[in-house]
Amino acid sequence: MAETIPDLRGVPKARAYAELKGHADAILEGVGDEITGMATMAALVHHAFGHLWTGFYRVVEPDRLLRVGPYQGTLGCLDIEFGRGVCGTAAAQRATVLVADVQQFPGHITCDARSQSEIVVPVFDRNRTLIAVFDIDSDRRNAFTAEDQRGLERLVGWFSRAG
Ligand code: SME
Repeated sequence: MAETIPDLRGVPKARAYAELKGHADAILEGVGDEITGMATMAALVHHAFGHLWTGFYRVVEPDRLLRVGPYQGTLGCLDIEFGRGVCGTAAAQRATVLVADVQQFPGHITCDARSQSEIVVPVFDRNRTLIAVFDIDSDRRNAFTAEDQRGLERLVGWFSRAG
């Protein structure tokens, strides 16, 4: 397998995400397995940008419970209830949540004390059923912008593709 993970730190975000999407689509061509998709995207995004923690929490009980799935980084919390923390909020609202400073987010769940800012993107299957959230943590404040939101939402669009 010839794919390597590009280092996209310092590359303008719109271009960086376009490049990552190309890599993900090439690697996952013909793949249907959701866990394979999650593992591949976590590795690509984590290493391309040098994030602190990058991974998925999967819906294991609809509207009630998320459980950690494929990720890169230090140990993640195992279970998160819908409505709790940044991940549980994004899951309950089925919407992306951007947190510029985790200290200012009431109920933030600290898995790694170095975490300063965070973005969590909902992941839907082709029936628009929520199957997971994609959570990325940074050791810098204000690390994520609307460009990250757009790029990540496009990337996880892979899970709702038609076939
Ligand atoms: N900070 C998250 C918990 C997950 S970890 O950071 C890996 C939250 O508040 O949902």
